[in-house]
Amino acid sequence: MSKQKPLNVGLVGYGFMGRTHSNAYKRVNDFFEVAHRPVLKAVCGRSDAGAKKFAETWGYESVETDWRKLVERKDIDAIDICTPNNTHAEIALAAAAAGKMILCEKPLSMNLKEGSAMADAVEKAGVRNTVWYNYRRVPAVTLAKSLIDEGKLGRIFHYRANFLQDWTISADLPQGGAGLWRLDAAAAGSGVTGDLLAHCIDTAIWLNGTIGTVCSMTETFVKERKHNLTGKVEPVGIDDACAFMCRFDNGSLGLFESTRYARGHKALYTFEVNGEKASLKWDLHDLHRLQYFDHRDDSALRGWRSIHVTDGEHPYMNRWWVPGLQIGYEHTFVHQVADFLADLAADRPTSPTFREALSTQAVCDAVLDSAEVGTWQTVIPV
Ligand SMILES: NC(=O)c1ccc[n+]([C@@H]2O[C@H](COP(=O)([O-])OP(=O)(O)OC[C@H]3O[C@@H](n4cnc5c(N)ncnc54)[C@H](O)[C@@H]3O)[C@@H](O)[C@H]2O)c1
Repeated sequence: MSKQKPLNVGLVGYGFMGRTHSNAYKRVNDFFEVAHRPVLKAVCGRSDAGAKKFAETWGYESVETDWRKLVERKDIDAIDICTPNNTHAEIALAAAAAGKMILCEKPLSMNLKEGSAMADAVEKAGVRNTVWYNYRRVPAVTLAKSLIDEGKLGRIFHYRANFLQDWTISADLPQGGAGLWRLDAAAAGSGVTGDLLAHCIDTAIWLNGTIGTVCSMTETFVKERKHNLTGKVEPVGIDDACAFMCRFDNGSLGLFESTRYARGHKALYTFEVNGEKASLKWDLHDLHRLQYFDHRDDSALRGWRSIHVTDGEHPYMNRWWVPGLQIGYEHTFVHQVADFLADLAADRPTSPTFREALSTQAVCDAVLDSAEVGTWQTVIPV
């Protein structure tokens, strides 16, 4: 018999994120001492056969083919939204009305207006909520946060981040439908801005505070693609690439770039922060390392040090193996579930909440507006 209280999870969407989250729910109690145990109660997908296959593979107790039924089920405590961006709001609003806890994939919403309604709804219903900006829970990134908060970098001058991929270069790639909804503006809302830069912006706001103004450019390199749902060649409405500069409210300058047209890069998320006393940088392809330069070091020995973030005193690492042995991408989701459960027991919010994730949504909106009108835009404060 398990000594933890059950937390019955209803998962909506069993694609890429459905898998990472299911893995996290299954692993969390093996490594983290928390008061609750996630129970894989039900998985929901539009295809009965697909959902059943997923349920068998991952150990879900039951299957639904309509998320509305899942949301209304009395035996579900938490709804986990792992579906394309255009479905987040509708599912979250219904789940909040039904009094369920909600864990929603990023970006929170298609735009700020929709996200604001979601944040209002969860607050009005008084339900626990969080958004899966999982990179905050890479131990090296969490370590960067503590170094900055401790003041190790001093005054911050520069923040730069990139998220580079190369998977949509072929003009023959269709848009829309399974696997390719990210190229369809109706399902995704935007292209790299909401998909990839949202991660960079969330981390940046977390590490360096709010962004006040932005100036951006976007490009859609392939203007028309066959749409999988209609079978017709249709205009492409997403941004294939986006670059923007910004001013943070703490006076530092930011530079961000994302594209799916950087041949040779698969998921190169990098950021660098330059302060008066020290700098740090991180690279998703080497995610267990944090590069750190401290100007206060003895001048003869001064240089970039590569911290292998695997010691017991590093964030989350005392729960895993022994010093020197690294963990990976999937563990960031385990950490988010562990934090969610610890916060549930302590009755405190799990960051980022829907309300906190709105700041990223506001920057994304301002970036897309700026690209359209060609001038600096003020980010709507949230
Ligand atoms: N945190 C991260 O790093 C990260 C990474 C990838 C994706 N995401 C986000 O996760 C979400 C899902 O992305 P993904 O990569 O898992 O996509 P995916 O295409 O792999 O999976 C989406 C799933 O949703 C299902 N689905 C679509 N409409 C549905 C509906 N109405 N009812 C039930 N199921 C439905 C699809 O059949 C599929 O199983 C997106 O919002 C995306 O932005 C986040």
